[in-house]
Amino acid sequence: MASQPEKTGFSHRTLERNITLLGLCSLVAVAIGGIVEIAPLFWVDSTIEKVEGVRPYTPLELAGRNIYMREGCYVCHSQMVRPFKDEVERYGHYSLAAESMYDHPFQWGSKRTGPDLARVGGRYSDEWHVGHLKNPREAVPESIMPPYAFLAEKPLNAGDMAAHLKALRAVGVPYTDKDIEQANADLVAQATPDADIADLQARYPKSQGRDYDGNPAVVTEMDALVAYLQMLGTLVDFKAGEAQEQPK
Ligand code: HEC
Repeated sequence: MASQPEKTGFSHRTLERNITLLGLCSLVAVAIGGIVEIAPLFWVDSTIEKVEGVRPYTPLELAGRNIYMREGCYVCHSQMVRPFKDEVERYGHYSLAAESMYDHPFQWGSKRTGPDLARVGGRYSDEWHVGHLKNPREAVPESIMPPYAFLAEKPLNAGDMAAHLKALRAVGVPYTDKDIEQANADLVAQATPDADIADLQARYPKSQGRDYDGNPAVVTEMDALVAYLQMLGTLVDFKAGEAQEQPK
């Protein structure tokens, strides 16, 4: 065996032959790496870039979103357009982190049995959605989506939306005191034709109010779900020139 050159003092040889010392030094090296990655997060306010137009859901949209989750729509539908050419051409501008910053829980999904719904808002009429949800085969003969006709029969019983908004505010969704105070009234007003919703629209820009399900007599679960679907992906105004063209 070739003899090792004589080493004096602290050398790599000493380090490698002393398990305690090696362990200790490894720990210090890993800790420095960890601190460099983690420490800045304590000083930045947010890792999500604010984007103009993104606002919290109105109570009616939120109630629709709850039905979306209850019915497991996310099992077949994602809500995230990935930044790939084929996806952008099919669905529109790729999703921005800010667009789901008020989602608790987010609905990105992990499987697409049906198409992505992140930008479905405004792509079809309310009547199309109601007809499609009642009987998907009527709109798309080869569809394997289950029918949800019962939603049109069930009066919307969303529970106390004020408490719901308050809970969301506790996890960082910027609902105002007025939003919370008005929540239950806002819910009904947005689905009632000819209701005065100027105040609601001032607090929730780009919100629309109307009878969504074709039955103005009663606010149903269908109203809420269609209100939610029709606002998906419509808040951010992607400038002309960007790939926001959506095939009809
Ligand atoms: C078993 C899987 C499945 C489930 C669950 C499901 N869908 Fe679908 N969905 C599909 C498929 C497949 C399509 C494509 C064919 C069609 O349009 O019906 C589709 C299409 C759609 C479309 C049209 C999208 C587009 O861009 O053309 C909407 C809107 C939609 N689904 C909403 C919903 C909602 C809301 C729910 C829950 C109440 C739901 N889906 C549950 C499979 C599913």
